[in-house]
Formats: sequence, C-alpha cells, structure tokens
Amino acid sequence: MLDVGSIRRDFPILQRKMDGKRIVYLDSTATTQKPESVINAIAEFYRNYNANVHRSVYKLGWEATDCYEQARKNVADFIGVKSEEIVFTRNTTESLNLLSYSLEGKLKKGDRILISSMEHHSNILPWMRLEERGINLDYINLTPEGFLDIEDFKSKIKKETKIISITHQSNVLGTINDIDTLSKIAKENDSIFIVDGAQSIPHMPFKMINGIDYMAFSGHKMLGPLGIGVLYGKYENLSELPPFQRGGEMIKEVDFHKVEFEDPPIKFEAGTPNVEGAVGLSAAIDYLKKIGMENVRSHEKYLTRKALDSLSTLKNIQIYGPRDTEKRGGVISFNIRSEAIKRKIASGNIHLDGLLHSHDVASHLDESNVFVRSGHHCAQPLMKYLNIKGTARASFYIYNDIDDIEALVSGLEGIDVQ
Ligand SMILES: Cc1ncc(COP(=O)(O)O)c(C=O)c1O
Repeated sequence: MLDVGSIRRDFPILQRKMDGKRIVYLDSTATTQKPESVINAIAEFYRNYNANVHRSVYKLGWEATDCYEQARKNVADFIGVKSEEIVFTRNTTESLNLLSYSLEGKLKKGDRILISSMEHHSNILPWMRLEERGINLDYINLTPEGFLDIEDFKSKIKKETKIISITHQSNVLGTINDIDTLSKIAKENDSIFIVDGAQSIPHMPFKMINGIDYMAFSGHKMLGPLGIGVLYGKYENLSELPPFQRGGEMIKEVDFHKVEFEDPPIKFEAGTPNVEGAVGLSAAIDYLKKIGMENVRSHEKYLTRKALDSLSTLKNIQIYGPRDTEKRGGVISFNIRSEAIKRKIASGNIHLDGLLHSHDVASHLDESNVFVRSGHHCAQPLMKYLNIKGTARASFYIYNDIDDIEALVSGLEGIDVQ
C-alpha cells in the first residue's frame, strides 16, 4: 500500500485549494503533476551547473555535460538498456516522427505499415505521412472488450509489412497490450517492431525485451517536466539510421559539401538539447524508483478496481475497455447516457446517440474540483471505431486515493440525466 498522504505532500500543486476545496486531479494520462524534488533538481541545475553541453572545454561546461549524460544513464538503467541507446527528444510525438522520417529510406512503394485501431494520433499521423508517399497503412481490429484481436493482427501481417507500431497501453481504453507476444510475431516476419510506451513506462515495471526495435515515451507523463521525451533504439539500429534533423552538435566533421555524423545517440540530437528537461526527468525517475514501480502498478490496479466497481453502480454509465485489472491500466473512459437528451434531441448541445457530451460531463465535475479529460483524447480513429464522438476520462497515479474516486462518483451522481 502506498502512503498516498505522504506522497501528496511532495507535490506542491496538490496543496492548492481551489474555491476552498481540495484538487481532485484525475488527468495524469494527459500529464502528471511534479514533485518538489523534480522542481528542485531543475532549479539546482540552473543555480549551479548551467552551461551548454558537449562543446565547452571549461569546467562548468564539463559539469553541465555530466548532468545531461548522468540523466541519460538513469533513463537507460530504468528501462534496462545502454546509455547510447537513449535519444532525448521533446516527447513521444517527436520520437515517433523521428522514426517516420529516418526509416523512410528503408521503405518502397507497396510496403506496408501495421498499427492498431487504439493508437494515439502520435502513433498514426507519422505513419500516415508515409501512406501519402505510397506506403499502405493497415489497422488491427479490436475485440468487443477492447483488446487487440490477435487473429486479425496475424492475418494483416504480410511479407511487405516492414513496420509494426503498437501502443503498450491505450490512453483511452486502458488496455495493456501483450508486447512480448506481439514482438515475437513481428520478428517472425522480420518487421521492425516499435512500441509507444507513453502510457506504460510511467505506470508499470518494465525492462526492455529483445523483440523491440524502438520505443518512445514522454517525461511529462512520469512526473518529469514538459518538453523532454525519449526514443530508445537498439544500438545497431540507431547506427544505421540517418539523422532526423541536422545542425550543431551532431557531427564529427563538416566540409563544404560533406558531413560525417556523430555516433548515436548524439547523431539524433541536433542543436542545443533540453538539459533541464533531462535533469528533471532523471529526478522523476529517482522518485519513482524510491516508490518502486511494482508498488506504482499495484496502487493503480487497486484504484482502478475500486473505481470500476463504484462507477458500475451508476445506472446511466457506459464504460469502455477491459474490466480485468490485470490487463488494463489506471485510465477509465466513460459516457453518461441521458433519457432527457433522447427526448430533447433537437435542442442543440447534444448528440444523436443519447449520450451527454463528454465536455458537459467534465464541466459538471469541474464544479466540484474533479478534473477529468473529455473529448476524443487524440484518438479519433478509435472514437470512430467505437462509433462515439468522445468520452470523459479519469486516470490515476501515485498521488490519487479512494477520496478522489469517491469525489468522482459523487460528482457523477449529481448529474441530472432525467
Ligand atoms: C498512448 C500515447 N501515445 C502518445 C502520446 C503523445 O505524447 P506527447 O504528447 O507527450 O508526445 C500520448 C499522450 O497522451 C499517449 O497517451
């Protein structure tokens, strides 16, 4: 059991009262709050170590470089890989765009890319860019419970399928995909296997497996600052991949018409990097390690079970995604059905499906300081697949407790659906 009371005291923003009441922050899937230690690590970097990295021969420059490279090592250790396999980017989105650009040369017209119907736009649009260049983009179907349909997955893998890119945990359904099995199937076909880890790395113990070629995640979703992200790539893959951007820092030698690039990961980090971001992310990892990722996962399982059970007692709720907490993470998407809306279908701010608009649900909860996300969650193809416009979504992290779930449920009870 986590000592949530003591964890909450580490998060200055959670001490805030709004309209005299506590904040119930249930949107960690979008971004997490930051503990004091992360905020301090960033301030400490600027107070004592700030200089540009990898270029200065003076002492302060060495120290700044050391802070940056120590952060890289901490990230690498956290997921069980080598430092030189960690590329710092802005976020998951940039990591996946890097891959889309750098892998383009490996593809020819008629090749195929396979993703799933539960992907975030970040793991769709970079591949759609290649579709516009003559590559076929296929989507794996889902089962009615919200799992990947493995038979459909197998049937859509062709010999032309050069890239398979799948989310580890859905940011809408909460589904945890069995990356081990999927990677084995991908490797039998010699496909490049990419994992979007934006929602898994922050929430569960994870060590890299051999079948994964590349993995992307974001610092801000795991207690770290905004604007720092990670791309993991097997060293031999990164070595043969061309850079995504070019400029300062990432070269060994430049002539008037010729360039020799640095080795990975620096080859992929053109320009001055986000050193404060890396330092902050490293402090966030230290914080998570202190809690223990097993404990993070058990706490979220516990809260998710409680939330699913309590929410299911509401008469008008429609919950999406698997019910088995062993196979899902701490994010719950739902809609509220309304009989009144069905009757008042002509009157405007409503959908023909008889569901309250998710923004109305979120705005109602906001009145009691319960902060949930609403809308399509950057997963519009999934919304189309589910035949809905959007959902309200509550997500949990280490600083949430049963009081937060009770506040959510009682807020929803207060919605007039008649
Ligand atoms: C599954 C998933 N992938 C990718 C992203 C994009 O992350 P970022 O906005 O940090 O690039 C998100 C963000 O919510 C996500 O949930």
